[in-house]
Amino acid sequence: MPTHSEGQILHHATLHQLQVFEVAARHCSFTRAAEELFLTQPTVSMQIKQLTKAVGLPLFEQVGKRLFLTDAGESLYATCNRIFEQLAEFEMKVANMKGMKQGRLKLGVVTTANYVIPRLLGPFCHQFPGIQVSLNVTNHDRLVDRISENRDDLYILSHIPQQIEVQSYHFLENPLVVLANRHHSLVKEKQISLQRLSQEPFIMREAGSYTRRSVQKMFDEQGLSLNIKMEFDSNEAIKQAIAGGMGISVLSLHTLALEGASGQLAILDVVGFPIQNQWYVCHIAGKQISVIAQTFLQFLQTEGRKIAQQTLEVTRQEEVGHD
Ligand code: PGA
Repeated sequence: MPTHSEGQILHHATLHQLQVFEVAARHCSFTRAAEELFLTQPTVSMQIKQLTKAVGLPLFEQVGKRLFLTDAGESLYATCNRIFEQLAEFEMKVANMKGMKQGRLKLGVVTTANYVIPRLLGPFCHQFPGIQVSLNVTNHDRLVDRISENRDDLYILSHIPQQIEVQSYHFLENPLVVLANRHHSLVKEKQISLQRLSQEPFIMREAGSYTRRSVQKMFDEQGLSLNIKMEFDSNEAIKQAIAGGMGISVLSLHTLALEGASGQLAILDVVGFPIQNQWYVCHIAGKQISVIAQTFLQFLQTEGRKIAQQTLEVTRQEEVGHD
């Protein structure tokens, strides 16, 4: 609880007075304080006089020609040092934030982008080590909910929601491919028809997934229905199920990154595939995004895209190498 006099000081003293006092106390001279601060000597005297009034005790005493700090002056000088030290620290933090070296970046991405974005965060965070990233991974519909609730700084997804006004930027291709177990009889076939594919046991993503919607749309357009045997809300679980011989599926080619040439999955050559979806980075239209978010957006469109594209090429090459 502040005492009566502390309350008085807070009420009447200004930061400027404290700054003048600190310099005068450091030099024990009003004249030198005036020089350092580019003020006139009477201005310094006036500021100290007002501060003395606010404190209610003398801050300096004159002995002969020399100026000394009183006990109250000593105590205020120590307090000023602490205040200005803290302010300098705060200033540095703000400067760092403005210089993008510190702060929080909140990202929301669809499950397929989960195979790309975490890897890009490595080089990005290396460049800006003070940045703290939180990554929320979910399917298309749930991500659209997050966008409408303004939960994150930036979002990555294939299909720009129509019901929300967003500012979007193209990021990267997101080809959807048909995946089967390496030993599946269709692996050796060329130009497999959708009709033939529709007879195979199919492992489908959950409702709300845009991968699912893309596949469904393609089959609907041909008047064909899929032979859905299972529904999983995880790309990894689907890959495992394919490896286990439970059926085929359609997933983003990005989900095969890091699988390597020894992977247990193969891409089938199906008419109309790959489905050429594209990923976009977006944020709510009119939202003033943070400097960090702007920097990441820029990174995604330059270095980030390059790294992701190279990885995608390697994944494609390894798949070709399988044949
Ligand atoms: P999802 O992602 O299948 O996880 O919804 C699709 C996309 O937007 O790429």
